[in-house]
Amino acid sequence: MSDLVHDRDAAWALLTEYTKSEALRRHALAVEAAVRYYARRDGEDETAWGNVALLHDFDYEVHPTLDKHPQDGAPMLRERGYPDWFIRAILSHANHLELERASQLEKTLFACDELAGFVHACGLVRPDGIATLEPSSVKKKLKQKSFAAGVNREDVYDGLELIGLDLDEHITNVIAALRPIAPELGLRTG
Ligand SMILES: [Fe+2]
Ligand SMILES: [Fe+2]
Repeated sequence: MSDLVHDRDAAWALLTEYTKSEALRRHALAVEAAVRYYARRDGEDETAWGNVALLHDFDYEVHPTLDKHPQDGAPMLRERGYPDWFIRAILSHANHLELERASQLEKTLFACDELAGFVHACGLVRPDGIATLEPSSVKKKLKQKSFAAGVNREDVYDGLELIGLDLDEHITNVIAALRPIAPELGLRTG
């Protein structure tokens, strides 16, 4: 338990214990990769940030409604020994809990959650996945309401403000973050 926040195997085991859906596991991996990218860029604690991201929706399959996710997952994390800051960061991704996203980790998690999902969705409909995906194409799809309709566009734009990047930069970074794990995300690699 001493170094649980840095134990990626433990985080993956907990995720997969409660998440059987391949799509949800891939979402977790995509957000992990994007959050890790920013942690690495800024010299933050990449493994700990990555584990927060990996687990942010760990209870979604068992708590698929807003009256339960992610708040009912919190005591489960506490029981496993995750510290308060780790759990708070996870809770902060949920708009309905109205927690202020105060730390850089919390801001980054929120900014990466919807956009990583969206970039992933863009790659799934392309013959070479995200290998040649350009920000301009992602931006075009963001304007098409019917494409990946589950991704809240407002959250994408709110996230940019939190991390102080423009849309192009953030999309470029997220694409770069996801490219190395394209096969794990079920994306073709051309
Ligand atoms: Fe969530
Ligand atoms: Fe998520």
